[in-house]
Amino acid sequence: MIKPYYQDEWATIYHGDCREILPQLETETIITDPTWPDADAKIPGQENPYQLFAEMCQVIPAGTQRLIVQLGCDSDPRFLSGIPSSWPFLRVCWLDYALPSYKGRLLYTGDVAYAFGVPPAYISGRQVMSGMCRSTKSDKLFVRHTHSSWKGKCFTGKDDEDDDGVNNLPHPTPRRLQHVAWLVHQFSDNHVVDPFMGSGTTLLAAKNLNRKSIGIEIKEEYCELAVKRLSQSVMDLTPVEKGYLKQPKIQYPFTSDILETVKIG
Ligand SMILES: C[S@@+](CC[C@H](N)C(=O)[O-])C[C@H]1O[C@@H](n2cnc3c(N)ncnc32)[C@H](O)[C@@H]1O
Repeated sequence: MIKPYYQDEWATIYHGDCREILPQLETETIITDPTWPDADAKIPGQENPYQLFAEMCQVIPAGTQRLIVQLGCDSDPRFLSGIPSSWPFLRVCWLDYALPSYKGRLLYTGDVAYAFGVPPAYISGRQVMSGMCRSTKSDKLFVRHTHSSWKGKCFTGKDDEDDDGVNNLPHPTPRRLQHVAWLVHQFSDNHVVDPFMGSGTTLLAAKNLNRKSIGIEIKEEYCELAVKRLSQSVMDLTPVEKGYLKQPKIQYPFTSDILETVKIG
């Protein structure tokens, strides 16, 4: 087995190709955001993301219970055809942004996660397999940015974060910590692997939720960045109580009308 690039009580990072490292690991849940078609040209794997993703799926360790794939709302879901049909489909999850942005004519409203495998354990607070998370606090913090003068800054994405540091997160496609934390909370029991780790968002979310995790990343500078984020984060022992996973109250505009209708009827 290849030596870890980094290891602490909660997280282990391997620097290398996930197609070689993943088969040597064990986990219950994979949560990942693979290099997708038309991703930033600087991201490794951009030459043939379909093949890369399909090859990763082929080497998922036996015994893995769930595979959660996060994509942007403009990513072609046919990309998921690399997932063997033996994986049962669970559901789609909508990972909205409180503040959408534009990408050309497209109103960029959020990300989407596709969940495959067997449902997670039935535990208190997670009886319902929910499907919607809205990121609020990190909209500003996770603006995609390729600024490289990040040394000495803070990238943990916590509420009291220095905006400037996170805005300069030197990875072209970091996902929002709030969304990823929600996925970890919803779908994993004790352990998570992210074979396309990037800046380490999944590992950071897992650590904040007291889950152990493993990340694999082919680019060393992103491994270094993930280590930095993990080592700057402070263990949060009560993430739910402290509002880490708290969701804003969503107003469904027609609810009261429907109730009225029911009453009248
Ligand atoms: C879309 S990014 C993931 C971003 C991540 N979710 C985050 O929040 O930072 C995909 C990552 O996969 C990495 N990658 C590409 N090919 C890989 C491979 N064969 N093995 C491991 N990592 C790979 C890229 O370097 C990139 O950082």
